[in-house]
Amino acid sequence: MDSQLDQLRAEATAAIAAAADETALEQLRVKYLGQSGAITALSKGMKDVAPADKPRVGKLLNEVRAAVTAALDNRKSALLANADKAAFAGVDVTLPGIAPGVGTLHPITQLLDRAVGIFRRMGFALADGPDIETEFHCFDALNTPADHPARNEQDTFYFDDGRLLRTHTSTVQIRTMETSAPPIRIIAPGAAYRRDEIDATHLAQFTQMEGLYVDEGVSVADLKGTLEFFFRELFGPDAQFRFRPHFFPFTEPSYEVDIKASALGGKWLEIAGCGMVDPAVFESVNARRCDTAFDPEKWTGFAFGFGLDRLAMILSTVPDIRYFTANDQRFLAQF
Ligand code: PHE
Repeated sequence: MDSQLDQLRAEATAAIAAAADETALEQLRVKYLGQSGAITALSKGMKDVAPADKPRVGKLLNEVRAAVTAALDNRKSALLANADKAAFAGVDVTLPGIAPGVGTLHPITQLLDRAVGIFRRMGFALADGPDIETEFHCFDALNTPADHPARNEQDTFYFDDGRLLRTHTSTVQIRTMETSAPPIRIIAPGAAYRRDEIDATHLAQFTQMEGLYVDEGVSVADLKGTLEFFFRELFGPDAQFRFRPHFFPFTEPSYEVDIKASALGGKWLEIAGCGMVDPAVFESVNARRCDTAFDPEKWTGFAFGFGLDRLAMILSTVPDIRYFTANDQRFLAQF
């Protein structure tokens, strides 16, 4: 039995060391350690060994089993290491890697997020409408007659079917009033389009933020208070304001707002258009809704609109508005 065991150990370890792959290795495991394997068979033979020899033979048997198990484990590790080595063959792992780029939000998105946050604190909800609009929503309902220059083909992008790219986000005022009754308190950020000559300060597409507040007894004081609070939150408590009388077809009275703030370079800057909703706008919404939900005798409101691109340019000292749409990583990574 002793010599049988010695021979088995020698034969098994040699065969295992020469196994070419995992399949061959598994076959050898079954051959020696499996249920009808050689070592298992010898274990069963222990009952025929003379009692005096049992401790010695038993110990030897255990040693052989341990040696074969260890040989199987070693060969398995060696085969795995070889496979790894083959997988990396020809790859120079000392070359510097390519670092994954970490993105940031676009500077206009960052400004927009802050602006939305401030209006939400004042109870404004987000509203939106389509970029491709009807003439009704962009002009007629906003009391803008057919001969108004904004409707000129040279100023606006028209589709063949008469629809157009909205020239301002004021369309969302109409969209919102068509589907909800007062009181209304919404902001509507989004793209607006004009046929502008593209240069360092003009793009054919820009970003506006619209606001609309309709309730009982809303006054110019509410309009001023809301806008001043908003712009002071955004640009600092040192901001000063001028409300200059202006004209918009859909508000009466109308104003342009100028701001002076150190965050914006300390110069007077025209930033927004605003005014009290013209009763004619309420009437055209009523006609469309076929009701009198926006009775101008009962409800008053204010509206405002401003562009974000120019503010973002000043805040981030961007010299050319075209950087915002050039999609250049070297520019975007700075924010
Ligand atoms: N829609 C106007 C513009 O684009 C801005 C505005 C909005 C003015 C709301 C008054 C009220 O110039």
